Amino acid sequence: MKIAFSDEALKTFEKILTKYPTKKAATLPTLHLAQREFGWLSKNVLKYVAQLLEQPFSAVYDTASFYTMFKLKPIGKHHLQVCSTLSCALRGAQGIYQHLCERYGIENGGVTEDGNYSIEKVECLGSCGTAPVVQINDDYHENLTIEALDKILDSLK
Ligand code: FES
Repeated sequence: MKIAFSDEALKTFEKILTKYPTKKAATLPTLHLAQREFGWLSKNVLKYVAQLLEQPFSAVYDTASFYTMFKLKPIGKHHLQVCSTLSCALRGAQGIYQHLCERYGIENGGVTEDGNYSIEKVECLGSCGTAPVVQINDDYHENLTIEALDKILDSLK
């Protein structure tokens, strides 16, 4: 399958380019756009981004592989990122992580067979005062209990 942005994403890409002095400087926002558009950054998606930015594949790959926010393998429709750093750990993050693993039958880095859920242990999400925290796609869920998290998960489609 040929990789290409939708017309809407192409318009967004053109707009991004107007904000940066060079195409290379637009690498991070273009990778974000590509991840939103394709779900994750496969080798073919990175090649496409490199072509759009007129950069070597290796330069785009280096950038994408440096930042943990860029996903180089498939993730679920609902990507559950469980903070496992100190504040969250002290406030029950491990129990939340275990609960998620049991609920979906997967472990860290796994994706459910239907592609709907994936779980990833991550470092500090920068919201230590409201630990424990789980990020579901772009949304933070804070001061979580297992019961509160289950309600949120039950409401996901
Ligand atoms: S330790 Fe979890 S958000 Fe900082």
